[in-house]
Amino acid sequence: MYVHVFPCVALILISIPLTQSCCAPSVVQGTAMTYGLISEGKTAFQNMQKFYYDEEEKKVARVTTNMMGQPVRDIFDFPAKKRYVITNGTTCNVTDLNEPFQKSCVSPSAVFMGSTVLGNTDDNMKVDNYRFNITQGPVTIETSFMIAPMKGGDCTVVGMVAYGKDQNGYQFSGTTIYMNFSFEITDKSVFQPPKQCNEPDNTGTLLFEVLGGFSRHGFF
Ligand SMILES: *[C@@H]1O[C@H](CO)[C@@H](O)[C@H](O)[C@H]1NC(C)=O
Ligand SMILES: *[C@@H]1O[C@H](CO)[C@@H](O)[C@H](O)[C@H]1NC(C)=O
Ligand SMILES: *[C@@H]1O[C@H](CO)[C@@H](O)[C@H](O)[C@H]1NC(C)=O
Ligand SMILES: *[C@@H]1O[C@H](CO)[C@@H](O)[C@H](O)[C@H]1NC(C)=O
Repeated sequence: MYVHVFPCVALILISIPLTQSCCAPSVVQGTAMTYGLISEGKTAFQNMQKFYYDEEEKKVARVTTNMMGQPVRDIFDFPAKKRYVITNGTTCNVTDLNEPFQKSCVSPSAVFMGSTVLGNTDDNMKVDNYRFNITQGPVTIETSFMIAPMKGGDCTVVGMVAYGKDQNGYQFSGTTIYMNFSFEITDKSVFQPPKQCNEPDNTGTLLFEVLGGFSRHGFF
């Protein structure tokens, strides 16, 4: 998990070692919208992220916009053991990815808080609510998230509220809604790094590690 620029969080992709808890389907793509506040400068932020998860190919990608308005695509290619961060379509930062792919599941240590029903029609959606705290170095993040069960036993996250702080008192909070799920990757080229990523003298500068919060992880 990365905590480089901790405010710019799009809360997504926190995966946790596999256990009996429910897990995301093996292929998922969708959109996450985060609305939040960063204590320093009292800055409100809004971030849209498209996410792509393919357990069969062991690849994960996210596409979002950094604080300078540039598109950022972040590809985790586990079989190749590489992570590519492509900023502005031009700059590529390649780093080694030595950790194994992890299935995206509800953490077994998440605390179940009960179920609620979303919506106002006969086909209302029952969701399961959990709380889960993450501590990574000096940063702690408290989350509450909603899981929507699927037929067949899989599930996806549909909402999350997170509050984080570090030892300097730097804080953020954010609410993320996950939507427009699809259970196929409609354009697999999202996992394909552009050719400048393979150039040996790659001196790309990663201006903003956009998704500071939660990286190597899966969906929850
Ligand atoms: C981002 O890309 C645009 C269009 O390709 C280019 O004009 C601009 O200079 C780039 N910005 C940076 C910081 O590289
Ligand atoms: C998370 O941390 C907060 C603050 O320390 C604590 O009150 C809460 O009980 C913790 N929740 C879980 C699920 O561990
Ligand atoms: C979600 O899907 C709808 C219908 O396909 C589309 O109109 C909308 O733009 C999508 N929204 C996002 C944020 O991807
Ligand atoms: C590339 O990304 C890594 C990990 O995010 C970072 O530590 C490094 O400074 C970046 N390199 C450049 C040249 O920006």
